Amino acid sequence: MRVTVFGTGYVGLVTGACLADAGHEVMCVDIDNAKIEDLKRGIIPIYEPGLDALVEQNLQQGRLHFTTNSNEGVDFSELQIIAVGTPPNEDGSADLQHVLAVARTIGQHMSNRKIIVNKSTVPVGTADKVTYAIKDTLRTRQVELKFDVCSNPEFLKEGSAIEDFSKAARIIVGTNSEEVKAVMRECYAPYSRNRDKLIFMDVRSAELTKYAANAMLATKISFMNEIAQMAERLGADIEHVRLGIGSDPRIGFQFIYSGCGYGGSCFPKDVQALARTAQEIGYEAELLNAVESVNNRQKNVLFNKLSHAFDHDLTNKTIAVWGLSFKPNTDDMRAAPSRNLIEAIWASGGKVQAYDPAAMDETSRIYGPRSDLKLTSNREQALEGADALVICTEWKQFRTVDFKWLKTCLNFPVLVDGRNLFDPATAKEAGFMYYAIGRGDSLMPALEQEGRSL
Ligand SMILES: NC(=O)c1ccc[n+]([C@@H]2O[C@H](COP(=O)([O-])OP(=O)(O)OC[C@H]3O[C@@H](n4cnc5c(N)ncnc54)[C@H](O)[C@@H]3O)[C@@H](O)[C@H]2O)c1
Repeated sequence: MRVTVFGTGYVGLVTGACLADAGHEVMCVDIDNAKIEDLKRGIIPIYEPGLDALVEQNLQQGRLHFTTNSNEGVDFSELQIIAVGTPPNEDGSADLQHVLAVARTIGQHMSNRKIIVNKSTVPVGTADKVTYAIKDTLRTRQVELKFDVCSNPEFLKEGSAIEDFSKAARIIVGTNSEEVKAVMRECYAPYSRNRDKLIFMDVRSAELTKYAANAMLATKISFMNEIAQMAERLGADIEHVRLGIGSDPRIGFQFIYSGCGYGGSCFPKDVQALARTAQEIGYEAELLNAVESVNNRQKNVLFNKLSHAFDHDLTNKTIAVWGLSFKPNTDDMRAAPSRNLIEAIWASGGKVQAYDPAAMDETSRIYGPRSDLKLTSNREQALEGADALVICTEWKQFRTVDFKWLKTCLNFPVLVDGRNLFDPATAKEAGFMYYAIGRGDSLMPALEQEGRSL
C-alpha cells in the first residue's frame, strides 16, 4: 500500500517509519528543508529510542522516502496522513494553521480521489474545516474530485513511540464511510494481527476521544499531586498512599505518581485546548480548569523547596540539576517542569549546572549561551562546586546514588527530589536535607520544627 505522511516530527516520522517497516511504501513530506535533507541521509532530528535504526533500514530498502515537494507527496498515494503540529494559541485553543495549510496543499495538487487522515490532535469539528479547505481550493481550481476526511488520532508516547505505535492498545478511526474503513483496515492490518485493534466511530467522537484520553491522564497526575500536597501538610507519605490505592484494581498503579507536574508537547496544550472548546460551547469545564491550575502550581514546587532550604536567598548559589527533558527517554523540553525551576533559580540570582542524557542540545537551543547556565557532560560534572542538587527527570541513571559520595560533592547537603526516587529515611540518615514530593518525612514544617537549617 502507498501512504503519504505530512509532517516528520515525533508522530509523523514514527508513523512513516513504522508503516514502511510493515511493508507499505511511504512518502514523508515536510516543509523544513534542513530536516528533510538530514532524513534523506538517515540523520534523525529527534531523540527517540530505535527510530534511527528503523529509518535507516527502511531508507535502504527503498520503502521510505522523504521530500519537501508537496506535489510529489500528494501524487504519491490515495492515503494522505496529516501529522503536523497543533501548538497552542495565546488563548489556549489549538492552532490549526499547519493542518489547514496541508489541507489546502492537498486540494491544490490532487488529481484523483484521496482519503485524508487526520492524525494530528485537533479539536472537534476540525475534519469539517479540513473538508471545507479542500473543497474551497478545488472550487478555485474549478475541478470536482472526490475525497474523504477521517480522524485517526495518535496515542503514542515519546520515549516508547515505536513500541506504542506497533503494539497500540487501540486504533481509533472516525469515519462513516465503509470504503474508508476498508482502506484503514488494510493500512493497519500489520499492527492488528493478534486481535482487531480498530475501533470505528463517527469523526467527532474520534476527535474528542484523543482529548478525553489525555485529559484523563493529566487528571490522574494532578489528582495525585493534590493529594501529595495534602500528605505533606498532614505528615503522611504519598508513596504509601499510592501503593494503598493502586492495589485497588478499579484504580490501578498506572499513572498515579506524584511529581513536579506534567509537561511535554501534549498534556498541557491538550487540557487547555479542551477547556477552551468547553468555553466556546458555553460549558464551564471546572474539572479541566482545576487539573491545569493544580499542575501550574505543582511546577513551582521544586523551586519553593530549594528556596526554602537556602532561607529564600539563592544569590550566587550554584544548583546542580539532573534531568531537563519533560520525562525520561526523550529530548523534548516543551513545557518541561525543569524550565520553571531553572528560570526561577536565575530570577533569584542563582546559577544552574545541569546534565541530561538527551536534552542538552535542545536546552542550548532554547536558552543560548549564558553565564548562569553550564551544561555538563555527565551527572558527576554537574555536581562540581554545586551547593545543592535537584532531580527533575527520572532517567534511569539518576535512580541510584551513593549518598556518602553525593554529600562530598555538594557544598550543602541539600537534595530536592522531584520524582520521589529515594527513601527519605536513608537520605536523612546520610545527613541530607531531603525534600521529596508529598512525603511526610521531607516536610518543610517538620524540618523547621526540628530547628534544622543550613
Ligand atoms: N509528540 C507526541 O508525543 C504526540 C503524541 C500524540 C499526538 N501528538 C500530536 O501529533 C501532532 C504532531 O505532533 P509532533 O510532536 O509530531 O509535532 P512536531 O512539532 O514534532 O512536528 C511537526 C512537523 O510538521 C512539520 N510541518 C508543519 N507544517 C507543515 C506542512 N504544511 N507540510 C508538511 N510538514 C509540515 C514541521 O516542520 C514539523 O517537522 C500534534 O497535533 C500533536 O498534538 C503528538
